Amino acid sequence: MDEDDEEQSQNSIKVILVGDSGTGKTNLIGVATGQPFNPESFTTINCSYIQFKININETEYKVNLWDTMGQEKYKSITKIFFKNAKIVLFVYDVTQRETFNSLTNWKKIIDDILGNVHLIAVVANKCDLYLKEQVKEEEGKKYAEEIGAKFIYTSAKNDAKNFRAFLEEIVKEYVIKYGIKNEKEIKINKKKLNQSGNNQKRKCC
Ligand code: GTP
Repeated sequence: MDEDDEEQSQNSIKVILVGDSGTGKTNLIGVATGQPFNPESFTTINCSYIQFKININETEYKVNLWDTMGQEKYKSITKIFFKNAKIVLFVYDVTQRETFNSLTNWKKIIDDILGNVHLIAVVANKCDLYLKEQVKEEEGKKYAEEIGAKFIYTSAKNDAKNFRAFLEEIVKEYVIKYGIKNEKEIKINKKKLNQSGNNQKRKCC
């Protein structure tokens, strides 16, 4: 099974974290999947995912958490990895207002590529640095409401458990609301439909 097959396999859900460089995407994914917080700063230069499993109504789901490159110069590459995402987390750093302002642009890119993704959330990260805060929690919450997103005010450094719980909650909500519709399943269903002799042409308008 190659990466694409694995990513598209049954009961797997692609979640992507997008946002400017340095907002903490890599660390959020790390701590949510049991790794220690890393105080060093490394720029992500490829997109990859870490998987965790979750049981919902006695079925096991694989959640693939995709780390994407926040740096402007990598934007055209990083966009390729947005394909098939079911949940998008928009991450900003509460101590850097420009990372919050950038979310409008990230949202536009996502809308262009994915259309209406089923579930979106805004992640206000680094709340442990509240003394340096440039964007208050209320402002982040208001923006999330405006775009119809969930919201979490968190810290990869101090709040791993809460972030993981938040992730599990939105994955459950996604599964309960929408079920899993992977591209592969859709293709198989289309194939079956064609084979069943139902070849009536649809009329347009
Ligand atoms: P790119 O890979 O360039 O897109 O960055 P990124 O969004 O993946 O950020 P990364 O996780 O590498 O974090 C950048 C820096 O912020 C690192 O030095 C982290 O240690 C630090 N950092 C991340 N999350 C937090 C947090 O919640 N609190 C504090 N104090 N620092 C954090």
